[in-house]
Amino acid sequence: MVDTIKGKNIVLGVCGGIAAYKSVELLRLLVKREARVRVIMTANAEYFVGPMTFEALSQQRVCRTLFETSDEAAVQHIHWAQQAQGVVIAPATANIIGKLANGIADDALSTFMLAITCPVLICPAMNSNMFASKPVQRNLKTLKEFGYTVLDPDAGELACGTTGPGRLPDPPVIMVAISALLAPKDFHGRNVLITAGPTREAIDPVRFISNPSTGKMGYAIARAAAMRGAAVTLISGPTSLTPPLNVKTIQVTSAAEMAAAVLAEVDQQDVIIKTAAVADFRPVKAANLKIKKDQAQLSIALERTQDILKTVGQRKKKQIVVGFAAETHELDSFASQKLTAKNLDMIVGNLIGSTEAGFGADTNRATFYFKDGTREPVDLMSKEDLAHLLLDRIASLGKRITTKGRRK
Ligand code: CTP
Repeated sequence: MVDTIKGKNIVLGVCGGIAAYKSVELLRLLVKREARVRVIMTANAEYFVGPMTFEALSQQRVCRTLFETSDEAAVQHIHWAQQAQGVVIAPATANIIGKLANGIADDALSTFMLAITCPVLICPAMNSNMFASKPVQRNLKTLKEFGYTVLDPDAGELACGTTGPGRLPDPPVIMVAISALLAPKDFHGRNVLITAGPTREAIDPVRFISNPSTGKMGYAIARAAAMRGAAVTLISGPTSLTPPLNVKTIQVTSAAEMAAAVLAEVDQQDVIIKTAAVADFRPVKAANLKIKKDQAQLSIALERTQDILKTVGQRKKKQIVVGFAAETHELDSFASQKLTAKNLDMIVGNLIGSTEAGFGADTNRATFYFKDGTREPVDLMSKEDLAHLLLDRIASLGKRITTKGRRK
């Protein structure tokens, strides 16, 4: 999937709040991602930031009022509304939230908002008591019912000296919300299960067998699938990553725990993607107490863990099942063997060992192998982009399966 922001006509509405300074940075980030941004400011916003700043960054006239005949932007607002592919209001004050919830059109921004048909992101920012007040909460509920997306404010110290929810999230966080807003919702109504990270197999309470997986690839797929409208369940081994927004995340430690969590979820899923680096062996018996080194045996008896993906492959009915294969050599032959042995629809092969692909890297170079014997080498790209490309391929597999009549 292409960048959902690049080339889009986005209107940024700026209201009068101390957080208006952050919308300057937001505009800069949008322009950097090659969006065509037009800014509409309320009269109060100008107490905080001057229109010149927005005009310089967007290279477009800022729309400030409907009635200045000399202001070309003013007469253009209906035209802008027709062209807008996404609108973000940041910061959104209690005033604009109230006006939008009630259809009041008494300035350029509120009038423009009644004329648009594109997706809208509202980023409230205000004093925490105002935010919690009944009218604001009722109005936000109404906006959600209208189909607007509301980005919850951060909690923290506010400009007015109080502490609580009400702070405008940082611009990179708003950018993620805008990407999600503009992403195609081609996974809407689909349940997607993703496993990620390593597992740990205990030797004793302070020692374990594991591997260097960081979970980045699986978390990127979870974020991408949620962005594209899927109901995502992420089953994660121990990682240092933040659980993605709008994703049901289940934390596990061992392969046995991961197997139990996956098998409890698998029948409700439409797509299962197993990026986890599951340990293949575990100690036959984990010691209850720390093993003292002068009493330790120098060998550990191991047994095989359950091959979770193979079990899922055997059990699957209508689901699309996707595996990952990390190999140091002979990628084509090992990946293809795993595809068949585990009854998969697709497997993503990685040659590990370089700094740009594999464990811990932010980028990945992969090859997709499909059930029909075809393969598709993929260029080096970010794990985020690879996640979207993988979902594109899964979406087409889903269509092919639907045409064959296996799926409803
Ligand atoms: N996998 C699994 N359960 C296991 C081992 C692996 O579900 N006990 C899954 C992984 O999540 C991955 C795929 O199987 O999607 C391939 O994992 P990999 O470690 O590359 O292969 P193995 O089957 O373990 O084979 P080998 O270690 O011999 O390469």
